[in-house]
Amino acid sequence: MSTLAHPELIRLLQKAYSAEKAASYAYQGHAASVKNKEEKIAIRQIEEDEWNHRKEVLHIMNHYGIPVSKWYEFRFAVIGKTISASCYVIGWFMPFFFAGKLESGNVCEYFRMKQFFNQIGIRNWDSILYEMGMKEKEHEIYFRDKIKKAGCCHILKSFSTGD
Ligand SMILES: [Fe+2]
Ligand SMILES: [Fe+2]
Repeated sequence: MSTLAHPELIRLLQKAYSAEKAASYAYQGHAASVKNKEEKIAIRQIEEDEWNHRKEVLHIMNHYGIPVSKWYEFRFAVIGKTISASCYVIGWFMPFFFAGKLESGNVCEYFRMKQFFNQIGIRNWDSILYEMGMKEKEHEIYFRDKIKKAGCCHILKSFSTGD
């Protein structure tokens, strides 16, 4: 086992690992709250993708002996469960909106990880990180399209410009 001399990257991995759980939880609530059957199936698939990402990130962490952060695990479990529960009360639009926003952050996260690894001369995670980033992009586009179809263009604009 080799160690990783990049504190920022270590933190990013720990955070992504826990954030994937938050996302999975959130999508559970989201899938349960939508009525449309196709939407339900699509969101369940996205939840499955997030669990897979979590597995992949853990694989990388284990490779370098990076421990799971108990604090992130707790914090993101609370966030995920809160979003999940709120899906039942805030109606159709907001969960899609938050999901899209969450996803656009994830895309950058995996590309940033790849960059950090490359900075210290490690290239063996390139394809998996790229793949995960692209999968997040797919998720983001799915949710964006949903919002666009609902005709909420003005909100979509603020959505793409800032955090
Ligand atoms: Fe993910
Ligand atoms: Fe995602």
